[in-house]
Amino acid sequence: MSSAATDSDLYWLKSIMKNELDLRPPFLAGIGKKRVIMRDELGNPIGHLTLSNRWSGYEINSFVVDENHRGRGLSHELLERIDTSPTFCYTRDIRLQSALLKAGYSRAFLPGFIATSNLMLARLCIVLCMIFTLDFRRLFHQIKNILRYKLYILDD
Ligand SMILES: CC(C)(COP(=O)(O)OP(=O)(O)OC[C@H]1O[C@@H](n2cnc3c(N)ncnc32)[C@H](O)[C@@H]1OP(=O)(O)O)[C@@H](O)C(=O)NCCC(=O)NCCS
Repeated sequence: MSSAATDSDLYWLKSIMKNELDLRPPFLAGIGKKRVIMRDELGNPIGHLTLSNRWSGYEINSFVVDENHRGRGLSHELLERIDTSPTFCYTRDIRLQSALLKAGYSRAFLPGFIATSNLMLARLCIVLCMIFTLDFRRLFHQIKNILRYKLYILDD
């Protein structure tokens, strides 16, 4: 699993996060030591995910495939490169939902008490950050769709 993100990786990631309102705010792109980065033959990033430690498991976030490479199965390859467990992911994207199910994840309601406690703290911080950075478009989008984000879990 690749863990090092260069400045140009983060620039690329931020530019996608800026437009994809389901994702975390772009200023969080550099947060997280565990990540998977897929590159093309020239070394440019084409796929990415971050694994955030939620005390009793890892949450997959910032899961993106470059616009020019979507629809080619890269989401499956990204998931295959995760070498930690247990992992879980909230998403409302049907493409990612399909890839998660194919990778053996199953639908769940909550990721467990400890991970949920961590998630609540983390989400509160993110909401406050969105307010302080005036990212209301993302905040309202995520509140509006809150019931559509579905949880998928892969146990040990
Ligand atoms: C969601 C995303 C990561 C999917 O990556 P991708 O590499 O394009 O997806 P894949 O080509 O691997 O396709 C995954 C599945 O979705 C299906 N799919 C692809 N495009 C589709 C479309 N437009 N409509 C419906 N299904 C589609 C594929 O057939 C594939 O199905 P399979 O599991 O049966 O093989 C990518 O589109 C993306 O970066 N989106 C923006 C960021 C985002 O929303 N991330 C999720 C945040 S929670």
